[in-house]
Amino acid sequence: MKVSTIFLAALGAAVALAAPTEKRGANDTEKAVIGYFEPLSGFPIEKLNFKKYTHINYAFGYMYKGAPDPYTIYVDYAVEGPKIKELVRRGKANGVKIIFSVGGWWGSQTFSEVARDPVRRKKWVESAMVFLRPNTLGDDAPIPNGWDMDGLDIDWEFPGTPGASCNTWASDDTANYLLLLKETRAQMDLEFPNNYKTISSAVGTIPWAGPDRYPLRDVRPFLPVFDWLNVMMYDVHGPTWGTPAQPGSTGPNAPVFTPPNRNHGSASEGVYTWTQAGWPKDRITMGTPFYGRAFTATVNMNTQNPISQYGPQTGVAPKGGPLDSNASFPLCVEPEQYWGFWNWHEIREHILTNDQNLLEPVAGWTRYWDNDTKTPWMFRESDKMFISYDDPTSMSLKVDFARYHGLKGVFMWESQMDYKEELLTVLTQIHCSSAACICRDVPKWDPAKVYAQPNTKVTYNGHLWTNKWWSRGETPQGTSWGAWKDGGAC
Ligand SMILES: *[C@@H]1O[C@H](CO)[C@@H](O)[C@H](O)[C@H]1NC(C)=O
Ligand SMILES: *[C@@H]1O[C@H](CO)[C@@H](O)[C@H](O)[C@H]1NC(C)=O
Ligand SMILES: *[C@@H]1O[C@H](CO)[C@@H](O)[C@H](O)[C@H]1NC(C)=O
Repeated sequence: MKVSTIFLAALGAAVALAAPTEKRGANDTEKAVIGYFEPLSGFPIEKLNFKKYTHINYAFGYMYKGAPDPYTIYVDYAVEGPKIKELVRRGKANGVKIIFSVGGWWGSQTFSEVARDPVRRKKWVESAMVFLRPNTLGDDAPIPNGWDMDGLDIDWEFPGTPGASCNTWASDDTANYLLLLKETRAQMDLEFPNNYKTISSAVGTIPWAGPDRYPLRDVRPFLPVFDWLNVMMYDVHGPTWGTPAQPGSTGPNAPVFTPPNRNHGSASEGVYTWTQAGWPKDRITMGTPFYGRAFTATVNMNTQNPISQYGPQTGVAPKGGPLDSNASFPLCVEPEQYWGFWNWHEIREHILTNDQNLLEPVAGWTRYWDNDTKTPWMFRESDKMFISYDDPTSMSLKVDFARYHGLKGVFMWESQMDYKEELLTVLTQIHCSSAACICRDVPKWDPAKVYAQPNTKVTYNGHLWTNKWWSRGETPQGTSWGAWKDGGAC
């Protein structure tokens, strides 16, 4: 990525003195399908299907040590500006909220320095507001004075812990973070009294670290500042998570449940941990990965006894799919290493190429299902590559989990990693009413098929149908003399 220095000069605040009209998160009963969108890869915005999202999180504006001031929210304006404008334009046309995400793993370098200093906090809030304000300079202005987005997603990864190697951090980060958030919220309420803007955040499966580095036991002080939290229920096992001496084991990237004695961090534990600390379920969205992670095992996992997705591994990430790169992120230079990433579309293009059967990989690979964690995995004996990933089946179970717990919705990292909207389409099932959910798994009526067994369910023409007797080739119509009984819309 080429970076050009930009400063989004903060406008003098256009202040309206009115009380906020809404309470945090209280007005929003629609289930969320939130797509993180990382523009760096050059994926055209036209390919994002706005019909299937409720929110798109533009990721990221960076907190970068190389910027002239720690409070600068760094964006490669020349490259990203037109993309942000296009996202906002399409978002408005389709009723999709466009949210500006700040931070991320590489872009949280200076949050600690900002949050601890009252003057920097103020300047940070001013620069953040520029992304929310409307542009009053006209469409042709080379640098708009506002980007007109609908909210902020503050992804400080992670206060009170070291995080990426470029980060500054301190033990009082989390307390300072709350100050920064309160000041941000107050300024938003002041500036946008009639046009509510949200604040969300991507968080881990455990709450922010307190001064002792243990997760906070009570997160209720954050309720007035965040509308919801995007809980990242992935990256639970990774090839380089351990130490060289103890490289950890292969295992699920995004388990829904965790069997005893395994790495923590399942979706189930995430919901439990946050709710125990006082965060309501209906203000949690469930993070899902549109990628798998590869490891190099040190045993043959096809014959390991018993066969399990847990096994010894080298601790060095293999090159994953064709797009996996060992180049370090330009804003935080680190030693070259691969990540073992396999985007879902890479898995579909190279391993699970059979559209009719996602259980059948190309030669060399074997596919397994782990019923404990509700995730699939694959193994290739020739180079001992293990991949933990998610497919439409495991995504569907994740959606069921989110619905069962009454979560606010689902999100994914990252939109462009999908294949023909296969996983995104499954995530949209978060919206389905109970009738529609029943119909979800019912096959379409097939004119060529013999329906010998009475009470067989089919869908046809937007309705659910059951047959009263043997039938073939009889179009469901719901007449009293016909074979098919109309079970209503679905
Ligand atoms: C809040 O709810 C009211 C009443 O349903 C609705 O008119 C308004 O548009 C909602 N506001 C937002 C930001 O969704
Ligand atoms: C990084 O990738 C390049 C090819 O893009 C390769 O030549 C180099 O050996 C790799 N470095 C490591 C440490 O794997
Ligand atoms: C799969 O797990 C569920 C619990 O999540 C359990 O009820 C079921 O018996 C398991 N199935 C098999 C085949 O082990």
